[in-house]
Amino acid sequence: MFETLPAPKLDAIIALMQAYAADPRAGKIDLGVGVYRDEDGRTPVMAAVKAAEAQILEAQESKSYLALAGDTAFLKQMEALLLGGAVPSARVAAVGAPGGTSAVRQICELIRSARPDAVIWVSAQTWPNHLPLIRAAGLRAQSYRYLDAKGGGLDREGLFADLEQVSAGDVVLLHGCCHNPTGVDLSAQDWAEMAALLERRGAVPFIDMAYQGFGEGLDADAGGLRHLAARLPELLVAASCSKNFGLYRERVGIAMAIVDPAQRDTLAAALAGLNRQAFAFPPDHGGRVVSTVLGDAALRHQWQTELDAMRQRVQENRRALARALRDATGSDRFAGVGHAQGMFSILPLTADEISALRAGHGVYVLGDGRANMAGLSTRNIAACAAAISAVTR
Ligand code: LMR
Repeated sequence: MFETLPAPKLDAIIALMQAYAADPRAGKIDLGVGVYRDEDGRTPVMAAVKAAEAQILEAQESKSYLALAGDTAFLKQMEALLLGGAVPSARVAAVGAPGGTSAVRQICELIRSARPDAVIWVSAQTWPNHLPLIRAAGLRAQSYRYLDAKGGGLDREGLFADLEQVSAGDVVLLHGCCHNPTGVDLSAQDWAEMAALLERRGAVPFIDMAYQGFGEGLDADAGGLRHLAARLPELLVAASCSKNFGLYRERVGIAMAIVDPAQRDTLAAALAGLNRQAFAFPPDHGGRVVSTVLGDAALRHQWQTELDAMRQRVQENRRALARALRDATGSDRFAGVGHAQGMFSILPLTADEISALRAGHGVYVLGDGRANMAGLSTRNIAACAAAISAVTR
């Protein structure tokens, strides 16, 4: 049966994780996978999460099945966190999904059920798993320009010119905040322009929100999403709690369709039906942690304080690396790193420089130059900047 099965091409992020794990060098630096790390390189369980888990352990009396959509409290809390009341609940259909990845996949499946010939427009630089997920759902993708030639800002003209080509019923995938991999986000003005363009073209936005809270703050990071939701008739959302709750391996995500109230129940049933086909019931534990934290004033405050500290640490790392690179290289080549948002930036390096960084210095960044700023610490920033300077000399 499997004689002709081709070996799958390993995802770039997973391949880098494996290469890093296999590297025996003591001073190796992991700027690969998008995981928060503290000053000691650990990814601790957040204290608010631990406290919620203790409450759940104490109070939970059954692990029997819930609904195909998952736990209602989780869905309601996530709706509020993402949308902040920007649209009435009567427009919102949502289901839990195992992580942001599955949420993206379920939304793609929903698009295929409704409109199999829709084209999904994806930013030229994007999360390496977006295109495989879109294609696995049998949909076509097309790219729009995103990062400018200097690599430090948005190619605004290119982006809007490309999106003028979208057809009615096409879907435009946008990163809600902390664009992965560039760290270059749309401004409020850009979001307003985007809403006008999508409205004019009759295209549907699909927001991937994986880093809410890591850009400017929980509400500010959802500003673009909320603007589009309030202004446009239809909007699709896939969101993850991996990073902002540190629940990575628990797999906590939500897939959401914001539609006309008359269609809301149909969309909710369609999403639940897609869950049934893929995994039936979404995992419960992580979602219950999220709803417990968000539903308890003290835990919520503790969580926000922890999240604020994580965001600030990543921002400080980013600025410190930009300064160290300017000092080490004597140039402004890496200035864009200092201005980006969230965990990632693209280091403007050639493929050879990226290989040399890994082979010669044990510094791991993705093949497109994406570097996770959370992997830096006061202990390794100077070494990292020196290594980058050495390979670019
Ligand atoms: C990343 O971009 O590194 C993370 O979202 C982890 C993943 O699943 O790829």
